[in-house]
Amino acid sequence: HEEFTKVKNIAKIELGRYEIDTWYFSPFPPEYNDCPKLFFCEFCLNFMKRKEQLQRHMKKCDLKHPPGDEIYRSGTLSMFEVDGKKNKVYGQNLCYLAKLFLDHKTLYYDVDLFLFYVLCECDDRGCHMVGYFSKEKHSEESYNLACILTLPPYQRKGYGKFLIAFSYELSKKEGKVGTPERPLSDLGLLSYRGYWTRVLLEILKKHKGNISIKVTPQELSDMTAIKSDDILSTLQSLDLIQYRKGQHVICADPKVLDRHLKAAGRGGLDVDVSKLIWTPYK
Ligand code: COA
Ligand code: NA
Repeated sequence: HEEFTKVKNIAKIELGRYEIDTWYFSPFPPEYNDCPKLFFCEFCLNFMKRKEQLQRHMKKCDLKHPPGDEIYRSGTLSMFEVDGKKNKVYGQNLCYLAKLFLDHKTLYYDVDLFLFYVLCECDDRGCHMVGYFSKEKHSEESYNLACILTLPPYQRKGYGKFLIAFSYELSKKEGKVGTPERPLSDLGLLSYRGYWTRVLLEILKKHKGNISIKVTPQELSDMTAIKSDDILSTLQSLDLIQYRKGQHVICADPKVLDRHLKAAGRGGLDVDVSKLIWTPYK
């Protein structure tokens, strides 16, 4: 766990039109450790020590979006799927960049084993990365997300919940339930709790007044692709679940649901599933 305690090495980065203060140490190759600011190409994510190098690079880099397949487009938002095996350098660059904002994740994974879902805001200059999540191609633990990041200039605008929602839409298409890899950061847990609460309570609300329909945690899991452990812990933390005669019973008083929904914050940006063109990785 040595890398967790390492002192922050890179103080700032430049990425597209943003200069961003970093949060944590990231294991860049040693020759980059003496420079206070790194310059990233916002498209291929190659990084350089000097502004002039970046300017020269931008003249010859012909990427205008992440490498890989565009699997979602709605308005100005696009999502690209990047295979870490086919785009190894991009995958590694993305991990170096992400670690600057992730405290406790070890990112020394083999990028070959991961898919990267990169969310972009697009305009006439290209597709500008907003954030991403990574996902193991094959997970024994039913993880549907390994790391998630919204770049600081874009945080707190609903992109995090969009990325989370997107990860569950992929799980639904796979016909599987999913859960994020642990541990989650504080901000990660807050975002997930907000997402889970909103999704589950919206469903429970639809059943209000209809006492004959009892929703079980298992049915909620089938509808949402949220793993039942996460459903139980969310409902338990809201005090909405009781264990009676060997069964979990959800209590769903409409007034209580509305109060919790309000407390859960904004809904975030919606994923328009009709705009997702994707088949599971084989
Ligand atoms: N202070 C308090 N609450 C915060 C917060 C902050 N700075 N940032 C996010 N939240 C909580 C809020 O409940 C927010 O919902 P609300 O705005 O409706 O109140 C919710 O998280 C999600 O907000 P959203 O705008 O959808 O998320 P985001 O785009 O800011 O991204 C993360 C959330 C976790 C991806 C982002 O904070 C991040 O990249 N953090 C660094 C990397 C990390 O920790 N990743 C998770 C571990 S793998
Ligand atoms: Na984490």
